[in-house]
Formats: sequence, structure tokens, C-alpha cells
Amino acid sequence: MKTVVITGSARGLGFEMAKLFKKKNLNVIISDLNEENLIRAKEELDKIKSNSKVEQCVCNVTKYNDIQNLINFSKEKFKKIDIWINNAGVNQPEKAIWELTEQEINMVLDVNLKGAIIGSKLIMEEMIKNKSGAIYNVEGYGSNDAKMLGLSIYGTSKRAITYFTEALAKECEERNTGIIVGKLSPGIMITDFIKNALGDKEKINLSEKTKKVYNILGDYPDVVANFLVNGILNNKKNGAKIEWLTNKKAAWRFMTARFNKRDFFKK
Ligand SMILES: NC(=O)c1ccc[n+]([C@@H]2O[C@H](COP(=O)([O-])OP(=O)(O)OC[C@H]3O[C@@H](n4cnc5c(N)ncnc54)[C@H](O)[C@@H]3O)[C@@H](O)[C@H]2O)c1
Repeated sequence: MKTVVITGSARGLGFEMAKLFKKKNLNVIISDLNEENLIRAKEELDKIKSNSKVEQCVCNVTKYNDIQNLINFSKEKFKKIDIWINNAGVNQPEKAIWELTEQEINMVLDVNLKGAIIGSKLIMEEMIKNKSGAIYNVEGYGSNDAKMLGLSIYGTSKRAITYFTEALAKECEERNTGIIVGKLSPGIMITDFIKNALGDKEKINLSEKTKKVYNILGDYPDVVANFLVNGILNNKKNGAKIEWLTNKKAAWRFMTARFNKRDFFKK
């Protein structure tokens, strides 16, 4: 039975992926900042009938020792980690670069970028011993070089994640590690993430224009998770990009927007 570890999985995309992995009989370790949220998430996951198990472990991905502890905990519970997903992420406040505080900048980069880098480094050390495993990092706005006022630091973190993931895949190949590294591209998801910056520290006021775009391009995270989890389980290739909202799909959504009756924001 395979084991998957997902960071930031008490809610949103990480939680939805955890549900599907459990349904598909993989052992799952969920991890997040807050123990209460994790307990609630585990209770939900335990209701899913499956041959596999779910365990929970508090892990703040900005803390090196927390990530090492998550790896040790996962090994204790299930011996070997087959899939590791660096999913934890925070949005930034809607401000220009010079309006952000040092702490706000640090938080976005520490969670989204450094958290995934340290997560990858530490799990690589483990997977190398087994000569097998798969690591996935989550892309986001900016990964494709797009730029927008109010998303510059987030975009910087996600652009860098894309570079980092490709560099790690290359190193894995050149060193013949037997480990595969890939990118998950979830498009736009209607989660707490789009409404709150810096975890839940600050509200984001979505403009009517932004809501319109989200209604066209966005999806609930269970839909996206279904696509990504199937992609992960079928993928054997190092350097893969598992992409939900392709340019073609986005163009189709805009073309058919007149017939789209979705309103994620109706009160
Ligand atoms: N929602 C979107 O539109 C969207 C689009 C593209 C990419 N993404 C990316 O998808 C991933 C998941 O996003 P989501 O929409 O599910 O967001 P979410 O806010 O619903 O979930 C993110 C989870 O990460 C956790 N987290 C935050 N900081 C952490 C830390 N320091 N250590 C451990 N956990 C931490 C949060 O507690 C939360 O449970 C993120 O990497 C995000 O950047 C989201």
C-alpha cells in the first residue's frame, strides 16, 4: 500500500486530494499549522471507507524541524513515503510591492517558496535511500510569468517554484536517483485562499471584475483535486506538469461564458 504526505492539507486543495487518495486506498498523512483543523479534517477522512489509513501531524512548513518531524512521523506510521506534495501556500495582501511590510513579504516567500524547497530537500534525502518516490510542487499565479498589481510577491514565489521544480527534476535525472518530480497546476479554485491573505490574517476584497473572471475560470477544489490525483497516480514521467486549466480550456471557458450560469459568490 502506498503512502502520500500532503502539506497544508487541513482544508482546500490539500484536503480534497487527501480524500481522493484515501478513496483510492493510499495511506495518507495530512499536515497543517493548526491541530484543531487537522483533527476536524481527519474525522472527515476517517468516514471514507477504504483499506487505507489517515494520520495527522502538525507541521509549519516554515520550520525546518517541523518538516523533518513530519517525515519521521510518516515513516514511523507507514515505513515508506511514496508521494510527497508541497501544497501549503498563502496568498498576499492586495498591495503594491512597496506597500507590503517586511513580515508580509517574508511570510509569502517562506511558506510558498522556502517551505517547498526545504520540504523537497528533506524528502529527497529520504527517497534517495529507497531509490524511488515522487515529489510534486504546486504552481500558481505567476508560474507562467504573468504579472498583476497586488500579486507580485505571490507571483515571484510561484514563478520560482516552477524554476525550482524543473531544476530538481533535472538533478534527479542527472544523478539517476529513480525519483520523479513534477508540477501541479490547479488553475483558479474557490477556496478560502482567494478570500484571505497570509493564511486567514487579512481579508481580500474581491472586485466585481475579479469575481466575474473567477466565475468563468474557477472551480471548486474537489473538481481540480480529482484531475490532479488521477494525474499523479498515472504519472511515471520525471518533469511532468499536471495542468488543470490549460490555455485551451481557459479560451473555451471565455468563449462559452455567455452560457455559464455559475456564481460562486451569490449570497
Ligand atoms: N485557490 C487558488 O485559486 C489557487 C490557485 C493556484 C494555486 N493555488 C495553490 O494551491 C495550494 C493550496 O491552496 P488552497 O486554495 O487550497 O488554499 P487554502 O488556504 O484553502 O489551503 C492552504 C492550506 O495551507 C495551510 N498553510 C498555510 N501556511 C502554512 C504553513 N506555514 N505550514 C503548513 N501549512 C500552512 C493553511 O492552513 C491551509 O490549510 C497553495 O499552494 C496555493 O498557492 C491556489
